[in-house]
Amino acid sequence: MKDISIAPFLIDFIRTATNMYNHGWDERNGGNISLMLDKNEIESYLNTKDILREIPTGFRMPELDDSYFLVTGTGKYFKNIQYAPEINLGIVKLIEYGTKAQLLWGFKDGGNFTSEFPTHIMSHAARLKINSKNRVIMHCHPTNLIAMTHIHTLDEKEFTRTLWKMNTECLVVFPDGVNVLPWMLCGTNEIGEATAEKIKTSRLVVWAQHGLYGAGADLDEAYGLIETAEKAAEIYMKIAHLTSINTISDEQLHLLEKRFCVKAREGYLD
Ligand code: 13P
Ligand code: ZN
Repeated sequence: MKDISIAPFLIDFIRTATNMYNHGWDERNGGNISLMLDKNEIESYLNTKDILREIPTGFRMPELDDSYFLVTGTGKYFKNIQYAPEINLGIVKLIEYGTKAQLLWGFKDGGNFTSEFPTHIMSHAARLKINSKNRVIMHCHPTNLIAMTHIHTLDEKEFTRTLWKMNTECLVVFPDGVNVLPWMLCGTNEIGEATAEKIKTSRLVVWAQHGLYGAGADLDEAYGLIETAEKAAEIYMKIAHLTSINTISDEQLHLLEKRFCVKAREGYLD
């Protein structure tokens, strides 16, 4: 067996989590990440028959039975992941219609996967139906997007249009826009189901007064989406209280569509 600490998926995951922390998106234990792994990706590092323990999930997800995930632990600080990955992260396999997870590696101090595991797994299932290459669900608490949910309407079309008009690249990076959930109790199956519904039509889902979910084929894609949306929200928060005399018009957004071969979400542009 090879040493798992040199596994590319683990290194990439730790670097991403560290970058997220350095961006200020993941105070304390705020945020969580799950990366779907292929069996053949992990077999040279782990014997998938060696089960450390079983953990009930509290939900059913038959379609993801036998799927493997590298996931952050509940209550674990993002700033510590790079120094103690085996305590702060775990690799689990879903079994018995998704009602249980077999722990194969990590959570060494007896810990457990994130309290947002229902949202992660339900969102993975939803995104995989749209894009079979989706592997990442990422949650964090980016300051400016959260701030924006305090002062901007939560109407998804309006929220999306505001972000698109903050910075030229936005429409190109997230033409599917952002969907928005009103404040809901986190860590529940209910918010998981609501997020999974929202993530079908947009890879970014804002949780009002809480944070953001991003989905992607790899860690970079999910990270880049969040980074771009958060930058746009930062610009909004810098100018929202000022008189705006210039903006990006819908006509200019249409030019971006043509130039970058992307299609803005149906009905979102005039
Ligand atoms: P966990 O520590 O359980 O991952 O929770 C953090 C969080 O962001 C809840 O939404
Ligand atoms: Zn959170």
